[in-house]
Amino acid sequence: MRTVTKDNITDVFMGYFGPDTDPRLREVMASLAKHLHAFAKDVNLTHAEWQKGIEFMEWAGEISDKERHEFVLLSDVLGLSSLVDMINSVPEGTSSSVLGPFHISGAPDIPFGHDMKRDYEGEVLLARGRVTDPSGNPIEGAKIDIGQTAPNGLYSSQDPDQDTYSFHGIQTTGADGAYGFTTVKPVSYTVPTDGPVGDILRATGRHPWRPSHLHYIITADGYRPLVTEIFPDDDPYLDEDTVFGVREDLVMKYVEQTPETFPDGYDLSGSVDEPYLVADFDLKLVPLT
Ligand code: BEZ
Ligand code: FE
Repeated sequence: MRTVTKDNITDVFMGYFGPDTDPRLREVMASLAKHLHAFAKDVNLTHAEWQKGIEFMEWAGEISDKERHEFVLLSDVLGLSSLVDMINSVPEGTSSSVLGPFHISGAPDIPFGHDMKRDYEGEVLLARGRVTDPSGNPIEGAKIDIGQTAPNGLYSSQDPDQDTYSFHGIQTTGADGAYGFTTVKPVSYTVPTDGPVGDILRATGRHPWRPSHLHYIITADGYRPLVTEIFPDDDPYLDEDTVFGVREDLVMKYVEQTPETFPDGYDLSGSVDEPYLVADFDLKLVPLT
């Protein structure tokens, strides 16, 4: 008989794998067990603390549904989502960044120049750029799934007062790879704090703010899909994003323009009579290998 002890439990665990276990699953599970065991020993985990952890996960499960993904949020505030992004990033392309728990699929197609702001109050932002390959060649037919919060800091999936797809749309690039639309200047907002993740943030003295951003999910035949977001350089939370999503190449500058310069080809062309902001940002996709 082999007695299980504090010192050999990790080795014993490793010996329990069946011979037909998928090698990658074995690698991941073995490492997970190794680090979990080391963690418990490192902090001398008590029964009461472990029970609290179990209750935390139960609450996260109970509060989650099709629209609310508390485990995604937990992964985000722990920095795990961003770490996975960075581990899997390809240096030749635009960096990826967290999508968060509020993305909704099935947004309507929108043409070039579409106005997502509609009647909402707030500064007009004209966002534009090109989707290219790593050498700067335009990619035709790339689909950009665009999303942001309303000026109240809530995504449509969180807010019964918004239409299902408000501030969401999918634009397809033409031969020049260009995209362009108008919207309301995004706001900084807080991640939800009414669940277990909010408890953790409060207990550890952390704020729940994210710097303002636009979400883009870009897909194109023959290229790696890119899930990312872009951030203005003057946002007060840029250096303290509670979900660690900011990367140097995802930071851009808003340029304020006078109304006469508003370009043709947009829904708002000819009707803008106040200064507006422009965000120019090119998105670089990496070919599939
Ligand atoms: C978001 O950007 O929508 C988001 C990301 C992570 C957690 C919460 C929200
Ligand atoms: Fe967001």
